[in-house]
Amino acid sequence: MVQDYQEYIEKVLLTEEQIQARVRELGAEISRDYAGSELLIICILRGGVMFTTDLVRQIDVPLAIEFMAVSSYGTGARQSEGEVRITLDLNTTVASKHILIVEDIIDSGHTLSSVIEMLKTRDPASLYVCTLLDKFERREVEVPIRYCGFKIRNEFVFGYGLDMDEFYRNLPFIGTVNLEKYETPLG
Ligand code: PRP
Repeated sequence: MVQDYQEYIEKVLLTEEQIQARVRELGAEISRDYAGSELLIICILRGGVMFTTDLVRQIDVPLAIEFMAVSSYGTGARQSEGEVRITLDLNTTVASKHILIVEDIIDSGHTLSSVIEMLKTRDPASLYVCTLLDKFERREVEVPIRYCGFKIRNEFVFGYGLDMDEFYRNLPFIGTVNLEKYETPLG
């Protein structure tokens, strides 16, 4: 059995109400900025799924949704590494389209930096980033963020798309972890 998160949660960092209120604000801002245009939302799997599905329902310009998955080379479970590779590519072209990449969290910045560089080569009309969380203190490479839900400190977080060894992405809130109390299934 997976360990009950209530045994290791330190605190609720962002409540469901706080998240949903901010998602509504971001949706309104994006709708204003893209009024008169069409958007292609690119959700980065898997963490970005919850945020993307809530965010798109708060945007009132015509939009399409695509998914992309990337993974870090190596096995560092909690530390992103320098190199990323695409494990699921888009099903559509991005040329001449207004692209908004949606992520759950930017940490070192390597993932998004690589995705941006790769998408730029496909000649989109515009390319911006929307992230729910910005763990700014951990940045190793600069990533231009146009829309940010919350800046957070360097704490291990889970819930609302963010996993604990793949579990608990479905929680409606974001919590911080007391790692001393967490029994990782990876040993
Ligand atoms: C997380 C997150 C970002 C990336 C951010 O994904 O969703 O894609 O890490 O880290 P970085 O800024 O240091 O590159 P993860 O690799 O945990 O995959 P997941 O979304 O499938 O959980």
